Amino acid sequence: MADFLTIAGMSRAEISRLLEATRKSVPIAEGRSPNRTSLNGRVIANLFFEDSTRTRCSFETAVHRLGGQVFNLTPSGSSLNKGESLVDTARNIECMGVAAIVVRCAVSGGAKMVADGVKCPVINAGDGRHEHPTQALLDVSTLIEEFGSVEGRTVAIVGDITNSRVARSATHALSTLGAHVRLVGPPTLVSKAFERITKGAGSQGQGTVSTMSNLDSALEGVDAVMMLRVQFERAAGGAISSDYRQMFGLTPERIAKLAPHVVILHPGPMNRGIEIDDKVADDPQRSRILRQVTHGVAARMAVLEDLVGV
Ligand code: ASP
Ligand code: CP
Repeated sequence: MADFLTIAGMSRAEISRLLEATRKSVPIAEGRSPNRTSLNGRVIANLFFEDSTRTRCSFETAVHRLGGQVFNLTPSGSSLNKGESLVDTARNIECMGVAAIVVRCAVSGGAKMVADGVKCPVINAGDGRHEHPTQALLDVSTLIEEFGSVEGRTVAIVGDITNSRVARSATHALSTLGAHVRLVGPPTLVSKAFERITKGAGSQGQGTVSTMSNLDSALEGVDAVMMLRVQFERAAGGAISSDYRQMFGLTPERIAKLAPHVVILHPGPMNRGIEIDDKVADDPQRSRILRQVTHGVAARMAVLEDLVGV
């Protein structure tokens, strides 16, 4: 790989290779196995033009676990505040000899713009409503740990689908690997265009993508439920009604009806009491939300090693 910008367009074999590398990195991410040295002498630049807790810190941790060094640039205190563009910023950072640039930004397609402007590898850490490819790796890796494989499994992704780069990347990954994805939410927040993702995946996996607007029907027969935060910063607030929790929230009453093996995912940050109730988020049997975070370090190690490891 030259860059890691999208899951869309990746083959089943390519995704599986990164997932296997992720799986092997989990014991290091947990601090149970010794760190590696594959990024020894390399400097990675984290350019985060949108807020982040998990993604930014896990990229940093992944670099440390691989023996490299990392620095962070955020808008506050940078020359972005003087009007410098995303691409000019990245070009200047590249000239400091960094091995790779990790970028998060509010512009859909912004990671590709950066990749087109620099020669070093670029990793998309979430660009607007477009994609969040390392999140998809960690989501699927968490499910593979649970079920052995996602092939033939049914995953409901619930909430603000239209504005979610997490949903887009996860849908590509899951359907390419042969899972059945149900995208669930109010019609104002579920774009039917997502169903077209199946066309790309159909030839390799036998996954399907469907859209639904009734959560209780959508939860019948699922293996996993991924809840999403309403993207208020992307003006989604106007698209939800006051009964959102009642219609689309994952409540203890709802999970009581699920089969015992069903697990709950959420990319974080959670808006407790809106899309997910406390008792669900913290359910010791079903919640894999914090486990996802550990897989996030491993997934970022896998991608960094693939792109710039020695
Ligand atoms: N953290 C994820 C993202 O940046 C999900 C979210 O913010 O709701 O896309
Ligand atoms: N899941 C995720 O991307 O979280 P952050 O926005 O905190 O990085």
